[in-house]
Amino acid sequence: MADSDMALFKHGLHLQANFEQNVPENGARVGVVMGSRSDFEPCMRYCYKMLDHLIMPYEGGVTSMHRTPDRALAYARTAEARGLKVIIACAGGSAHLPGMMASETTLPVLAVAPKKPEEDKAAVYSTIRMPSGVPAAFIGCGKAGAENAALYAARILAPYDSDLHERLTMFMYEQTQAVPYRCFDF
Ligand code: RP5
Repeated sequence: MADSDMALFKHGLHLQANFEQNVPENGARVGVVMGSRSDFEPCMRYCYKMLDHLIMPYEGGVTSMHRTPDRALAYARTAEARGLKVIIACAGGSAHLPGMMASETTLPVLAVAPKKPEEDKAAVYSTIRMPSGVPAAFIGCGKAGAENAALYAARILAPYDSDLHERLTMFMYEQTQAVPYRCFDF
């Protein structure tokens, strides 16, 4: 992991024993949680990068529904009071994290599976088969899912933030401009 990425990884609340009481100092409106540190390098680093690109303050870190259930539930229960507007949750395998986040907050929860469906069907099914009344929006898998979760969070927040709306519009414009007409030059 590059030093800059490691700095991002450490930036969140995940290692702070008292994070229930912690108020994000950077005005984070997006919370990014993942079930394991192993979800970061192949997947959620791209979510952080997209949030950085859009200049969206966020807090991020590891909390597991199975290994750190108290931390995970406390995170969801205190998220709104700490100023968050959206939670992005990534978990693989028996992926309870996005759904349990959704059960403990009224904030929108965006779910990402770290691997492709053919590599980890369980994570996808665990998330898309939420019971009625507890919505968690499944966004996608791997790098694309992680980036799109950040972009979806931007779409949720942009109607209330004209600067973010402008940055999101610019992102889409630049993305369109970057698509070439030809596959190669003669
Ligand atoms: C899930 O189990 C995590 O989200 C991760 O995708 C998977 C494996 O975790 P590790 O054993 O690599 O920590 O809870």
